[in-house]
Amino acid sequence: MRFLVIGGGGREHALCRALQASPLATEVICAPGNDGIALATTCVDVAVDDLDGIVSLAQERAIDIVVVGPELPLVLGLVDRLEAAGIRAFGPNRAAAQLEGSKAFMKAFCARHAIPTAGYRVFGKDEAEAALAHVAAAALPLVVKADGLAAGKGVVIAETREVAREAVETAFAGAFGEAGATLVIEEFLEGEEVSLFAICDGTTALEIGTAQDHKRAFDGDTGPNTGGMGAYSPAPVLTPALVEEVMATIIQPTLDGLAAEGVSYKGFLYAGLMLTADGPELLEYNVRFGDPECQVVLPRLATDFGQLITGAVDGMLDRMSLRWHPGHALTVVLATRGYPASSPKGSVIRGLDALAGEPDLLVFHAATRNIEGQWQAHGGRVLAVTGRGPTLEAARDRAYAAVARIDWPEGFHRSDIGWRALSR
Ligand code: AMP
Ligand code: GLY
Repeated sequence: MRFLVIGGGGREHALCRALQASPLATEVICAPGNDGIALATTCVDVAVDDLDGIVSLAQERAIDIVVVGPELPLVLGLVDRLEAAGIRAFGPNRAAAQLEGSKAFMKAFCARHAIPTAGYRVFGKDEAEAALAHVAAAALPLVVKADGLAAGKGVVIAETREVAREAVETAFAGAFGEAGATLVIEEFLEGEEVSLFAICDGTTALEIGTAQDHKRAFDGDTGPNTGGMGAYSPAPVLTPALVEEVMATIIQPTLDGLAAEGVSYKGFLYAGLMLTADGPELLEYNVRFGDPECQVVLPRLATDFGQLITGAVDGMLDRMSLRWHPGHALTVVLATRGYPASSPKGSVIRGLDALAGEPDLLVFHAATRNIEGQWQAHGGRVLAVTGRGPTLEAARDRAYAAVARIDWPEGFHRSDIGWRALSR
């Protein structure tokens, strides 16, 4: 089987590695990939939003299954385009991708299917007055969210009416472009945040790992929000009983609800959850794997990943079950100083090659360039260093011992990844 992975970050590096380990895979190609992925995988420079280019590439290379990493091509309808061209794809189609593409769609969908999530109101740009009246009266804190994709920047947790009002005005003034032309204003949920991933084939969903992310840039969960500075899996706070509850009250009703509305959900489904006093509630859906969560979940998976993806595309997940390597995985993200505000390119990273092949250690490249044998940073989040071990402590120590051997003065990382589970 010939697989084409779409994307060029650390998540896609993990997807490529897992596919390449499958006896089913005769070839794995990545578009656009990055220089780290290219160490072991053919990368072709086609952008993730170049739908025509991706369809042509899949045809030219006689690809059997296209595996889509990021949300943008999914929301743009890449899977619909591939399927129309007779190419099999792993990822939700455009209609299903609305779960991430539009928060107003997601909330209304949850309301239709009694899926537990925070109470909310939706306001369009022409309803600014009503939105402001709502934030003047509703209970605080309030959460103001841009409806569309805003690269993780479209959510404001407002502790005061002032901040809520400003969030409404900023979004309606165009700060997030079209993504902010509609706002979801919802109740604040109290609890611990955790993620659960499912793999879906349209009717069956299997849990494919739990994880906890670290969204803030700096130690102690301070600093600006980022795409994620580190993660670990499994997340002990999601006990087997809670996993079962989330599958039964959130994931399966989502698949069933979509199917009842004529939409088949195929691909990874990423549930951002709040464990409230009343049980797990859905904060958000992402229609893809998490990054860097993928870099801790896939290294734990013992099931043949190529077979699993093929099973999902063919609607055969009801005949499959997942097997896991024992133990834990923890990843530390190394980012360019200045991220997330800015990430100057070109700083030199030394010591990476010496880490290759170390046991229980995986270095995933998110944004590197290899210029004449020298590694350089080429973006915000640049590397994810994953350690595995029999305990979370062992996994953490493995990851941080490797991070200490990477010589990159212009980079930074958090030193407290895993604190929540380790202090439990
Ligand atoms: P979202 O992109 O919708 O997940 O929002 C980003 C982050 O904002 C989440 O990961 C939570 O940390 C926080 N958040 C979102 N909605 C709520 C809510 N209703 N209550 C509390 N925190 C929230
Ligand atoms: N790490 C969070 C995300 O992938 O959205």
